[in-house]
Amino acid sequence: MATESEVHPHAFVVEWREGFKINIPQVDQEHKHLFALVKALNLETVDQTLEELLDYVVTHFSNEQALMEKHGYPAFEAHLQLHETFGTQVADFLSSGEPWSEERIQNLRRFLNKWLIGHIMTHDLRFGKWLESQRTVVAPVKSAAPIEKKGFFARLFGRR
Ligand SMILES: [Fe+2]
Repeated sequence: MATESEVHPHAFVVEWREGFKINIPQVDQEHKHLFALVKALNLETVDQTLEELLDYVVTHFSNEQALMEKHGYPAFEAHLQLHETFGTQVADFLSSGEPWSEERIQNLRRFLNKWLIGHIMTHDLRFGKWLESQRTVVAPVKSAAPIEKKGFFARLFGRR
């Protein structure tokens, strides 16, 4: 394991790329923004950026789930479960209460990038292909209510 001074601040930065597209423009835009927020994590503004990131994760999951529900996606429940498991993993990571360091930020960024890529390229892509096979016109969805200033986890787990 590299010591803190050896960890380059931009290690593990993954840029969103065309190959991550699932061909649902709204979802692709939101994914792109998620990668930008993960990239923006840095030691000076970590608390603020992390709050913005987690808020946006909730908004994105809500929008994606709304789209799935609206179109009657058969794997909706399983997909919702994946989003909730992600929430639990993030909660576990943050619960150690360790002080932030370059290394801890890199660990978080590596976890987030890895999860996002794996999830998008498997499960979101599957939804994109299914939706395409339905040959329906996709109207954008928005969160029903403005973002409440409740905690991330309360909102993530309190939706149902
Ligand atoms: Fe998803």
